[in-house]
Amino acid sequence: MDSFEPRRRRRARRVPRDKFAALKAFFDSSNMFHYEGLLGNGGQGSIYKIKYVELNKPNPLSRRLVAKVADPSRGSDVEGVAREKMILETLRYCQHIVSMIDSPDDPLASAQRLGWAWIFLEEMENGTLNAFLKRARVAGFVSLPNRMLWRIFLCMIRACIDMAWPPSSSDSDEKTIQFLDKPTGLVHNDIHGGNFMFGSLADDPEHAISPILKLLDFGLAQRINSSDFASVATGEQQNIEDIGIMMATILTLQTDWKYTGEDVQVDLSRLGYSSAVLSPASGILGGPEHDEPDPLPYIDRDMRLIIAACMASNPQDRPMMVDLERWVYSEVSNTQPAYYGINRGGAEWESNETICNIVQQCIFDALEDVT
Ligand SMILES: Nc1ncnc2c1ncn2[C@@H]1O[C@H](COP(=O)(O)OP(=O)(O)O)[C@@H](O)[C@H]1O
Ligand SMILES: [Mg+2]
Repeated sequence: MDSFEPRRRRRARRVPRDKFAALKAFFDSSNMFHYEGLLGNGGQGSIYKIKYVELNKPNPLSRRLVAKVADPSRGSDVEGVAREKMILETLRYCQHIVSMIDSPDDPLASAQRLGWAWIFLEEMENGTLNAFLKRARVAGFVSLPNRMLWRIFLCMIRACIDMAWPPSSSDSDEKTIQFLDKPTGLVHNDIHGGNFMFGSLADDPEHAISPILKLLDFGLAQRINSSDFASVATGEQQNIEDIGIMMATILTLQTDWKYTGEDVQVDLSRLGYSSAVLSPASGILGGPEHDEPDPLPYIDRDMRLIIAACMASNPQDRPMMVDLERWVYSEVSNTQPAYYGINRGGAEWESNETICNIVQQCIFDALEDVT
């Protein structure tokens, strides 16, 4: 689905149209699930739009779902989808991870004998992060307001917290308190702009002006236990590096390739970390030579330092999750547009109104044009 997936999966074979007949027949046998069309053929399986109507209720509820289906006769990765289902089961109360939906009268139940694997997911109605970045570029933007970038960054950090310390019930929150437990060691292994999708705005400070961003596609995820080997990155450190690279990619609205940069020595003492950390941060902070112009002067330097820290070459130099959450949460909660007043575009570029307009134009109003 995405042009820069790091570990390519076998792509599903192209399928003639009438091959959907088997799938449609399963849905036709149910009066609660309605097949609404193919969303895409991915590396693991196919993604279909489904409408679910709750019958036998005085006021029947209807909601949109997505089914990710792997059919072995079409070359899909049945094992991968089955594994993804097991992982999503453990992440079911995570706010920043796409939710799996249980279906009491599963219309695909009898597809088990055909060797299929499938998952029903909440529909993420507002498109992928990549689609948003492409639209923003087409609209003529060269970057995003810092205050929007901080919010996107916080959603990614919360997805990492979710993977490491998944809540055990729907009332638990994703805050620091749970960091006392041993982390799961779950690594996503496929973090890119096609595997983050936007949900809706919410009445809370983190998602009031920029909609929640959720992580999906756990087909390559795995649990690692690296605590015995100090030199090997833990699951959290690997995910943190991946969201650092993702953020560095976003700073320039890049969608065609992932960020790469030359290793430079970065001084993280401002963050309370080491003053000499090696990180491939030349593209976001500038090279080591004196007088080299700042490549991204309009992007908050503290944000770039945190991103550089996430990408640190030595996993032990990457930030602790608790610090990452504290730094970025504090920016989302406290940093006002006036703080960026001297930047190009001034405080107005950083205002809630500008961010809401970008969200409206490049997320809510323009869902069909790019994928
Ligand atoms: N829950 C969802 N809601 C809406 N679209 C989805 C959802 N899940 C997947 N998609 C769309 O299908 C694409 C492929 O899904 P993904 O789970 O990433 O499968 P693959 O393993 O093929 O990459 C996503 O990039 C997105 O465009
Ligand atoms: Mg994917």
